[in-house]
Amino acid sequence: MRIHLPGRHRSHARAGHGGHAHDDNSFAGSAEHYDRLARRWMRGVYRRIARDVVAALPVEGTVLDIGTGPGHLLVEIGALRPDVHLAGIDPAPDMIEAARRNLASIRERATAVVGDVVHLPFDDGSFDVVVSSLSLHHWADPTGGGAEVARVRRPGGQIRIYDLRSAPFADLHAAVSGDGRPGRLARFPITPLPFPALRRLVL
Ligand SMILES: C[S@@+](CC[C@H](N)C(=O)[O-])C[C@H]1O[C@@H](n2cnc3c(N)ncnc32)[C@H](O)[C@@H]1O
Repeated sequence: MRIHLPGRHRSHARAGHGGHAHDDNSFAGSAEHYDRLARRWMRGVYRRIARDVVAALPVEGTVLDIGTGPGHLLVEIGALRPDVHLAGIDPAPDMIEAARRNLASIRERATAVVGDVVHLPFDDGSFDVVVSSLSLHHWADPTGGGAEVARVRRPGGQIRIYDLRSAPFADLHAAVSGDGRPGRLARFPITPLPFPALRRLVL
């Protein structure tokens, strides 16, 4: 199945968000450094999350990674599941450049686009799983992001958010749970890596 980038597509994220501390482009310019660090130190984290995500993915399913950065989580999901189609979005153009490089060997089933969670350039109900790792705590508008995440999730699909305990899970959950689903927020240990335990929200 193809992932469509329809009329709502924007090639660049909207600039600025009222000067919030976690600005859209706070990662612009740091992609090369982050890419290197992530590849070297966080592979175990991405693998652990990828294993968790694929358990929720149907055969030939579609997954969207929000705030994908250099796309390492998508790379790991793609390695575990050659049948699935992958999309990543990030407001930082240099992160998306890095993600495209990292996904080059599977480009026929992986796409990475510049954009913000509050304006996802995808049709309603496009994805079986919408995932995000270590990004929610940067979103300027987690409530607006939650509404968009819920919109692009296919009916019966899942939202899986992995982040630090301090991330605004409650705001996201409140924005999504208009559909009446109970959410599950739990500790998501990454051991034996020297990494603080993450939290995982499943909706
Ligand atoms: C710490 S990095 C995490 C990258 C990747 N998910 C990972 O686990 O390595 C946070 C990412 O969130 C992105 N981000 C920040 N605000 C965002 C927003 N409003 N919508 C989507 N992504 C955003 C940043 O550009 C950055 O690439």
